[in-house]
Amino acid sequence: MSTLEDIVSIISDDLIAVESILTENTASEYSFVDMAVQHVVEGGGKRLRPILVILSAKASGYNGKDAHLLAAVVELIHVASLVHDDVLDEATIRRGRETLQTKWGNKVAVLVGDYLHARVLSMLVSRHAEDPAMDILADTTQSMCEGEVIHAYKSGDFDIAEEEYLKIISFKTGKLIAASCTLGAQLGSLKKQSVDAFTSYGNHIGAAFQMVDDLLDFVEDTEKLGKNAFGDLREGKLTFPIIYTRKVCNEEEKKNLEKVLDPKTDESEAIDFVNTLFNKYDVQDHCLKIAQDYANNAKAALSSIPESIELKALLQLADYVVSRDS
Ligand code: IPE
Ligand code: IPE
Ligand code: MG
Ligand code: MG
Ligand code: MG
Repeated sequence: MSTLEDIVSIISDDLIAVESILTENTASEYSFVDMAVQHVVEGGGKRLRPILVILSAKASGYNGKDAHLLAAVVELIHVASLVHDDVLDEATIRRGRETLQTKWGNKVAVLVGDYLHARVLSMLVSRHAEDPAMDILADTTQSMCEGEVIHAYKSGDFDIAEEEYLKIISFKTGKLIAASCTLGAQLGSLKKQSVDAFTSYGNHIGAAFQMVDDLLDFVEDTEKLGKNAFGDLREGKLTFPIIYTRKVCNEEEKKNLEKVLDPKTDESEAIDFVNTLFNKYDVQDHCLKIAQDYANNAKAALSSIPESIELKALLQLADYVVSRDS
């Protein structure tokens, strides 16, 4: 299985250009603002969404610089969503660093997220008027917020159904990943049907990506993840692995599961019980299988796109999203 580094080696120069745009376009003349903003902008991360913009653009025949700006824009929307998400989830670690609110409090974190959105608007305006990217990204940002609001509202609700969960992840994660692919593909000279194929690819890997993220929350440690393991569990957020476990376990286990998901329960007790159920019902395998089904559908969506090394990378990326461990 190819690593992310292998897959993106063909676009390393583009990714360097994106990093420069990110730094240049988020700088503030006020030193504290700048420090807080750079803490999250420069702070690691896989840069998956910029990678998707660039690969989709190149796989669609576009080689210009506009892809770099759009790649930076989607990453900033993503970073803003992480900053706000960490406030919502009361997370202390992100990308191996302290979260903004741990360092400087909720107020700073909320405002830095807003600042990043403002930068995004200004970067888009610097492109040309009537830019279709405006429309797509405004819609995407709205859906992302709606997905997060619905998930926050449902926190602690045990009866969340699988369809509801799929809708939430499509909104909070899938839309931005899909928009990254659409924006890249639109730069090329493909017909609408082919651009739609990239969007469909993005929606499918987006779902797989969040499902695996939800699984990793239970099966990897904080150091490896660079963010708090068992965070969803402690927040009372029902995600795919638990929704599935509740569906297949017996009534007594179901009752106990609700008990241990109460944030007042001792954390190690909760983790032990959940692990026992995961082993008993092969939850990890099931989640990975469903995520792989989504990844396969993502690959199938691109079946009519002409062959190129970037197309091959996008196909590899679909499998990476499932096999990754951080
Ligand atoms: C984390 O996204 C938030 C989700 C949508 C699951 P990433 O796993 O892409 O985070 P970074 O950018 O690599 O830090
Ligand atoms: C967040 O989902 C999705 C966003 C759009 C930010 P999570 O809450 O699972 O993301 P992580 O695990 O904190 O990265
Ligand atoms: Mg979170
Ligand atoms: Mg969250
Ligand atoms: Mg998560």
